[in-house]
Amino acid sequence: MTEIDPKDDILGRARVRDNDELKEYYDELANIDTGALWTVANDIEPWEPTPKSAPIIWRHSDLRKQVLRAIDLVRPEDAGRRVVYLRNPKRQDVSAACGWLFSGLQVMKAGEKAGAHRHAASALRFIMEGEGAYTIVDGHKVELGGKDFVITPNGTWHEHGISDEGTTCIWQDGLDIPLTNALEANFYEVHPDDYQSTNLPTNDSPFSYGAPGLMPALDKWDKPYSPLLKFSWEPTYEALLNYAKVTDGSNYDGIIMRYINPQSGDDPMLTMGAQMQMLRPSEHTKSHRHTGNVIYQVAKGSGYSIIDGRRFDWTEKDIFCVPSWTWHEHCNNDGNDDACLFSFNDFPVMKKLGFYKEQALSENDGHQTLTT
Ligand SMILES: [Fe+2]
Ligand SMILES: [Fe+2]
Repeated sequence: MTEIDPKDDILGRARVRDNDELKEYYDELANIDTGALWTVANDIEPWEPTPKSAPIIWRHSDLRKQVLRAIDLVRPEDAGRRVVYLRNPKRQDVSAACGWLFSGLQVMKAGEKAGAHRHAASALRFIMEGEGAYTIVDGHKVELGGKDFVITPNGTWHEHGISDEGTTCIWQDGLDIPLTNALEANFYEVHPDDYQSTNLPTNDSPFSYGAPGLMPALDKWDKPYSPLLKFSWEPTYEALLNYAKVTDGSNYDGIIMRYINPQSGDDPMLTMGAQMQMLRPSEHTKSHRHTGNVIYQVAKGSGYSIIDGRRFDWTEKDIFCVPSWTWHEHCNNDGNDDACLFSFNDFPVMKKLGFYKEQALSENDGHQTLTT
């Protein structure tokens, strides 16, 4: 250690000054694969989280044409998944979009189907455009429409495709691949029969578990994830509109609802959560920050978010991220219509491990000062 940060020059922090004898000692420790904790302690134990990811926006106007180009360049049978992934410039080493979360845009055209596989990472998708998309999760086939949110929990066999009568579809994938790899727990298998065979009725999951406030009386679901595999846009939006009639909402998120496992009320999957929020006309939320990473997709409307002092203007289907412990506030700049943000996060991991923490910005009436 050469320089000591004035903040660390106190009792309780490492503030040992180097000298020749210590340097010789450090060399000898290194020779036996050891080190003196006080030389690294302040780095490995920061005063507060130091997110590695950059706040960033990926614009749909840039993404869509490049994603569509992939159709002519690779076949899903060869690519496995025809996905253009969102690469945070500061997380290239782990192929993450933000924190330990992966995201990408997948494109398939009518009649295409990708082989079944399973992995230890959990996955979700949010449908951006097209008709006729379906996904099969452990034999449960669900048909998907625009702005539907779908889960493929960890360890489940799954495959995606587009019906012959459908159109080219694009959806956002979200996975916790970087987290699973960081925990050195990832597995991947392709299905022994290439595709799943199922005798279950199509849409049996949403038809059994998709009615609000109701569960099948003979429910026997015993998995640690949601029996409801698809959360449709229309009832989600209606829920936000109704909730807005009776609440002022969150200071930081407007009208916001969590997608849940209807059996338990928990998050739909063990490691990732998802939310849909509505910013009312001209609503500008206050700023807060919390542990956990969030990736947003604009589901409706236009506006901007201020993240770490920078303004990111967004419109429908743009995707942006808020890294852990980073100040953020959202604004709908349309005075007549609401704006909706879909988002997914790693909050379930943060909460289960006891790491979830949240803080409101107290100065400047809760609003950040723009740095650029
Ligand atoms: Fe997958
Ligand atoms: Fe937040």
